[in-house]
Amino acid sequence: KLVTAFAPATVANVSCGFDILGFAIDELGDEVTVKLVDTPGVKVVEIQGDGGKLPFDADKNTCSVAVQAMLNSLGVNLGIELSLFKGLPLGSGMGSSAASAAAALVAANEVLGNPFEKMDLVPFAMEAERIACGTAHADNVAPSILGGFVLIKDYDPLDVIKLPVPDGLYCTLLHPHLELKTMDSRSVLRQQISLKESTVQSGNIAGFIAGLFRNDFQLISRSLKDVIAEPTRALLIPGFYELRNVVREIGALGSGISGSGPTIFILSEGKEIALKVGKESKKVFEKIGLEVDVYVSKV
Ligand code: HSE
Repeated sequence: KLVTAFAPATVANVSCGFDILGFAIDELGDEVTVKLVDTPGVKVVEIQGDGGKLPFDADKNTCSVAVQAMLNSLGVNLGIELSLFKGLPLGSGMGSSAASAAAALVAANEVLGNPFEKMDLVPFAMEAERIACGTAHADNVAPSILGGFVLIKDYDPLDVIKLPVPDGLYCTLLHPHLELKTMDSRSVLRQQISLKESTVQSGNIAGFIAGLFRNDFQLISRSLKDVIAEPTRALLIPGFYELRNVVREIGALGSGISGSGPTIFILSEGKEIALKVGKESKKVFEKIGLEVDVYVSKV
């Protein structure tokens, strides 16, 4: 039996929700084909679109690690072959490792007759993130599997909450051609934050989620701030603050680092602003000599 699944790119953190908030991007993503075979063991047999960079070793590839975690939980030792078709650039901050794991799990679950609900696949995909960046964060894998906005209310025990998506919310993604490994951009994070910073961040994440429930774009806009990760990570992304000013002037709701970067996400109300943001932002990067890819998607 053969099943193919697609899993989308994701924006993690969404500025105010470091490690606890993410959303899925339509269209862009990875595809995995899963084949049930007689010889026991999980094998990666084909990888395309990665420029030869991803490992075939089943203990290192996020697809196989996720599927192996799923089989362990079922207590079975089946033969599964995985073929990965990368649509996402590596080290981009668009949840590339997460999308591969999510697609592999959804396809493997289907091949096995869907023993798991989608929500139950999240912990298996988190094991893949642990391999990819050293931390089993869920803010990419959960929205990649479940779609829309997802809150990781708690990690211990895991408590994943689907959130509403306001109608008319668009995202522009700018992917400068730099590769930033999540492991590296996690290493620049401060390990301690002040009481004041904690209060500011809590107010913003609460405001952002209230904005999603109330369809209140202005509240979403006022809440798109990050005092935890952005101050150190923005230094790794040339043009980050200039771009912020440009997109605000155009009327975007706000901008931030997508996951651990270097991709920048910009939220807008309506497609027209999102497209204009893409066009003008490209110029900012061109001025500093950086090539960028621009994607515009409904959230
Ligand atoms: N929350 C993770 C981080 C996302 O910021 O490191 C990585 O894409």
